[in-house]
Amino acid sequence: MAQTAFIERLPKAELHLHIEGTLEPPMMLAFAERNRVPLPYGSVSEIQNAYRFRNLQDFLDIYYLGTRVLVTKQDFRELTWAYLVRAREQNVLHAEIFFDPQAHTDRDVPFATVVNGIHQALVEAKDALGISTRLILCFLRHLSAEAAMATLEEALPFQDRIVAVGLDSSEVGNPPNKFTDVFARARAEGFLCVAHAGEEGPADYVRQALDELLVRRIDHGNRSLDDDALVERLARDGTPLTVCPLSNLKLGVIESLKDHPLLEMMDRGLMVTVNSDDPAYFGGYVNENYQAVADALGLNNEVLYRLARNSFEASFLPEQEKTGLLAKLDAETRLQKAS
Ligand code: ADE
Ligand code: ZN
Repeated sequence: MAQTAFIERLPKAELHLHIEGTLEPPMMLAFAERNRVPLPYGSVSEIQNAYRFRNLQDFLDIYYLGTRVLVTKQDFRELTWAYLVRAREQNVLHAEIFFDPQAHTDRDVPFATVVNGIHQALVEAKDALGISTRLILCFLRHLSAEAAMATLEEALPFQDRIVAVGLDSSEVGNPPNKFTDVFARARAEGFLCVAHAGEEGPADYVRQALDELLVRRIDHGNRSLDDDALVERLARDGTPLTVCPLSNLKLGVIESLKDHPLLEMMDRGLMVTVNSDDPAYFGGYVNENYQAVADALGLNNEVLYRLARNSFEASFLPEQEKTGLLAKLDAETRLQKAS
């Protein structure tokens, strides 16, 4: 199908990707065996059968269970490398990658083990695959603000490797303003800020993320659409939303992809990008997410091009690198139009 080829060849950036969410079942089993970590699953199909989620919390319970097999620097390096190879195969030229250090440090895996393992793969991928990357540290919002602050302090010696801080995990009941002081300190230390908001939580959490955490992007942001004034503000400021269609479907944020608000978001002037979130758990990497919304919403190639363009524009790359990647995008789309 012509559109599948168009999506595959489209140069793109991925801006909402949890590295722990790229742990494919065969790798989970292999790491469990290597590290002698007991799992309640004996096979790939048993793992896949467990991936039926009614909501975000159902998913998170299984996601945190999976993280327990990640123990050594080698595990983090191999996990990250495997993602980057797949991403590059899908013409991802730039990836901004979340990691959840507290999911590991709470099991006594040192912060340095996590960051150094991931970072080694990022450096290798730049050379071997030609993919650029940034790393974003996410605080787990179901844990305390004090724990987040301690994690921020652990991150300071690694600041050259981490561009931004974010906020993820169980949203409802853990509003952004629980972390106002942590994000203020992070900004004072020079980190950029993003936050998951409006995935399951209300539009007011999106407003708090903007007003209290001074975020540069909103991760998900679906529920912003409930509040017209907020939509106008996001549109006026050009605040990017990192939208994750297959994640929204698998976590019950939408009932069907036909109900996905991506087109409505774009029609209302929002700066939308398409991303995979936790691809090993939600049934698709970034191209499958583009394809899923293209099929369900009948997107034409102009809209797909716009989404790819947004992905570079919304990235944390310096202007010069953005310009270079946008030129690659334009050259590729011109080629495809001519063929
Ligand atoms: N952690 C990993 N994926 C997440 C998501 N979609 N929402 C909140 N926390 C997450
Ligand atoms: Zn996410």
